[in-house]
Amino acid sequence: LLLPDVPQVLAGKHITITAGPTREDIDPVRYITNHSSGKMGYALAKASQQLGAKVTLISGPVDLTPPENVKTILVSSAQDMHNTVMQNIKDSDIFVACAAVADYRPKQNATQKIKKSEQELTLTFVKNPDILSDVAHLPDPPFTVGFAAETQNLREYALGKLSRKKLNMIAANDVSNKTIGFNSEQNALTVFWPKGEKQLNIADKNLLATQLMKIVAEKFEETQT
Ligand code: CTP
Ligand code: CA
Repeated sequence: LLLPDVPQVLAGKHITITAGPTREDIDPVRYITNHSSGKMGYALAKASQQLGAKVTLISGPVDLTPPENVKTILVSSAQDMHNTVMQNIKDSDIFVACAAVADYRPKQNATQKIKKSEQELTLTFVKNPDILSDVAHLPDPPFTVGFAAETQNLREYALGKLSRKKLNMIAANDVSNKTIGFNSEQNALTVFWPKGEKQLNIADKNLLATQLMKIVAEKFEETQT
């Protein structure tokens, strides 16, 4: 494998990655979700595995084949993803939250199909747990990396999430640009950590994933001394 400039810091380390959208049920036949394809998270899992890490990928419903030599756990709702992450995070050195987790779920998940009537239909939504923030606030947290999908004020919002969620790093994504990011082969990221930042220009998600994991490796190593 041609990654000669990569320090071996990720070799044997356990990395847990979330990917894809979540699916929030309304009734037995309907749900709400978002346009996340899961490609970036799957690319991060593959890149991490190629850098020698032991990878657990926790994925919402996507149309992708699980990467080879990666333990992949498929989940559906944000609550499922939260439970699965919490059960698997204990021995992780690094956590990367790439999933587009639904912030809200329908307050009621009807046991029977909701029938059409003459009235308008109103759904009430309740907040889902914040998986990334909960991991970062564990007593002995892993090195924690978040993503930020923004349509405006990218830097301000990303830096807000970095400090509020107590992250080691955040990769911010301009989702107002329709040609990159959500549901696309390419992406561009601005990576922030408490003492610096780096721009990763528009590129194929697989290349970007390797570039991002190299920065993660470098900053993770700094915390190990
Ligand atoms: N995230 C998470 N659990 C949630 C919501 C978000 O783990 N319930 C993670 C995402 O995987 C991402 C980061 O938090 O790594 C930021 O997600 P984003 O949607 O950009 O931020 P939010 O904090 O949800 O704020 P908002 O959607 O209002 O911008
Ligand atoms: Ca959100």
